[in-house]
Amino acid sequence: MLEVAATGKAQALVDRARLWARHAEMARFGATPLGGVNRQALTAEEIDGRRCLIGWARELGFAVSMDDMGNLFIRRPGSDDSLPPVLTGSHIDTQPSGGRFDGIYGILAGLEALQAIDAAGIATRRAIEVVTWMNEEGSRFSPGCMGSLAFADPARTSDLSAIQDLEGVTVADALAGLRLAFPDVPARKLGFVPAAFVEAHIEQGPRLEKERKTIGVVTGIQGTRRFVVEVRGENAHAGTTPRRRRKDALLAALRIVAGLEKLMRDPEDVVRFTIGRFIVSPGAPSVVPGHVLFSIDFRHPDDAVLEMRGDQVEPVCRKHAGKCDVVVKQTSRTRPIEFAGLVPETIERATERLGLPHIHMPSGAGHDAQNLVKICPTGMIFVPCERGISHNEAENAKPSDLAAGARVLAETLVDLATR
Ligand code: HGY
Ligand code: MN
Ligand code: MN
Repeated sequence: MLEVAATGKAQALVDRARLWARHAEMARFGATPLGGVNRQALTAEEIDGRRCLIGWARELGFAVSMDDMGNLFIRRPGSDDSLPPVLTGSHIDTQPSGGRFDGIYGILAGLEALQAIDAAGIATRRAIEVVTWMNEEGSRFSPGCMGSLAFADPARTSDLSAIQDLEGVTVADALAGLRLAFPDVPARKLGFVPAAFVEAHIEQGPRLEKERKTIGVVTGIQGTRRFVVEVRGENAHAGTTPRRRRKDALLAALRIVAGLEKLMRDPEDVVRFTIGRFIVSPGAPSVVPGHVLFSIDFRHPDDAVLEMRGDQVEPVCRKHAGKCDVVVKQTSRTRPIEFAGLVPETIERATERLGLPHIHMPSGAGHDAQNLVKICPTGMIFVPCERGISHNEAENAKPSDLAAGARVLAETLVDLATR
């Protein structure tokens, strides 16, 4: 007999050992020698991870579907199917030297919450769906948060589908491979307005651990501006070409990077400026490099700073290019966003009911929630990770913290899906 939603019952049935065991199983897909995970978007490793997740969902009797941008949905029905569902979830893809918790925790916490709600025999008005957003990390295909971006704005599908990885494979080709891998997963229309979205994630910073708090009620996400810079010089013989005749793309790129580092200096240490990819071609010891391509990842909580300093990137590149040509392309721009109202308030009430120590805090990292907040009430639940390390194979978390986040999530989902 299904009972009307009862707060407190579901969280008591969240199983810490089961949640931990699923993380260990999922970490096998793309496992790296140093104990991390390399499970990049739409690769064979990610497809294997999705297959495992679909298997768990079906064992639990939940329906599975996938939309045109590879977003995967696991659905627990509500009593009124005409109502938009409550969504929870995160991403299954990782950075090339990623950890065992970034992204996948939000999916496995969602599955654990659904299983606990089911075991508690709770009937919710609205369906609850655990979503796996396609390509959050943006390491293979840039920009990241691609699946949730298209979900929030389906008009972006065609330009996002044409994006290529470094081998020239397009998102469209990779998605075709994904669909072939899962012929028995029903297709679903891309994009709808959910009743709400909640994302559980490791903090990827040191604050919760340092302040001995179990839960972060996330207040917002800083804005970003990402660029790709190409420096075009001329390949030349290292032994015969005098310096005055050289168009050395590497030396120009190093001057440009020094200029950008100066532009992004910030005594308050709030600016986040990263050059994570730097490719020198042809990369032969006896050839003066004719081409350099590098990435810029610039973030800040104040949009005016993003605007002002971000607009200086191209002039600074030109200023230091010397005899080389330089092409600067902004690949993504996200404004700072705020989580307020229904979802953070529901998260906080659940956290207080469970008596868990918590703080309100912003997110330095980007998440799919930054796209969902444009179309529905949205919020995030943070749990601590060891020494705040992430995007690193040493990423770690405690089973008790992961379970606490899943308990808060279960309570939050029951509350939101009963409205
Ligand atoms: O880069 C980010 O902020 C996210 O972890 N992909
Ligand atoms: Mn993440
Ligand atoms: Mn990440």
